[in-house]
Amino acid sequence: MPTPRALTLTRPDDFHLHLRDGPAMASVVPHTAAQFGRALVMPNLKPPVTTVAQALAYRERILAALEQRAPEGADSAFAPLMTLYLTDNTPLDEVARVAETPEVIAFKYYPAGATTNSDSGVTALERVYRVLAAMEQQGVVLCLHGEVTSPEVDVFDREARFVEGPLAQIARDFPALRMVVEHITTREAADWVEAAPAHVGATITPQHLLYSRNALFTGGIRPHFYCLPVLKRESHRQRLIEAATSGNPKFFLGTDSAPHAKNSKESCCGAAGCYSAHAALELYAEAFEAADALDRLDDFASRFGAAFYGLPRNTGTVTLARETWSPPDAFAFGEETVVPLTLGRALAWRLRAPMGSGGRE
Ligand code: NCD
Ligand code: ZN
Repeated sequence: MPTPRALTLTRPDDFHLHLRDGPAMASVVPHTAAQFGRALVMPNLKPPVTTVAQALAYRERILAALEQRAPEGADSAFAPLMTLYLTDNTPLDEVARVAETPEVIAFKYYPAGATTNSDSGVTALERVYRVLAAMEQQGVVLCLHGEVTSPEVDVFDREARFVEGPLAQIARDFPALRMVVEHITTREAADWVEAAPAHVGATITPQHLLYSRNALFTGGIRPHFYCLPVLKRESHRQRLIEAATSGNPKFFLGTDSAPHAKNSKESCCGAAGCYSAHAALELYAEAFEAADALDRLDDFASRFGAAFYGLPRNTGTVTLARETWSPPDAFAFGEETVVPLTLGRALAWRLRAPMGSGGRE
């Protein structure tokens, strides 16, 4: 397919995003709001967001930072969708509250210790079985960070081991539970999700579509490519490209944009997380173009995720122009700065100012 000069998409949604809180959040949220109609906001704050009341208060802080409290029924340009952090102590009542709160649409399962701010995560699957049963019964979605945490398991095998172990177990014991395997990075995860029933989906990040683990070590250690699950070998990246561009509605967009202050990334013990919100669509367009699949981007970015969550499709549009430009090498992040995934390189696509109203059907 010849490369178009511009690409117009239905306003997309980001179904996996870290915004942090306070001034840092206020610095980064405009990047996401410029690109996406909605974003599923992860709950791994310190302390984590574990109740609907906390999630709604967090949502208000995000909207206040954007100053976008549109009146009920009006077209609002950006709507945060919230998640709750599943812990060993999540009460059953909280599941019912999520089920009846449209702004909170999922629980997030972090195995304890798997990633940034996951100390409050689940320590043993059995501890959340009653809660998972309630979620299955009430149709509440479970988003999973799919990695085992045992220190003896090779870091590059942690997702594959999660898929064959805890994930297979959850799917067997809760066959109707709606699940999203977040930020998949391996052939094993893509194959498993593909073979699962339609109420199981997966998100894929731009970094896992664009880079293999070589990017972490090109000419030295590159901390801004370090996220969890860690980048994998090239053959896995190829499988993710195949999944994302396959037209299979189980695979949809979730950036996992995860800002950390420059100092905590460029450190002797660098934090996990890539910042991509400033150019997320541009990065996905690059990956889809390289696979000659730009015509599949609208479904992946703007349709499949909303359909999975049972949400209406956004009605506005965004346009990407074919234009070479270089994003800044750092952005404000509260009183600090955040270095983006695009550090030191040019992009082939650039988002134009939104054309549509940014509303929903
Ligand atoms: C995320 C973060 O920084 O919050 N980091 C990451 O590497 N992806 C946490 C997560 O989603 O694992
Ligand atoms: Zn994440």
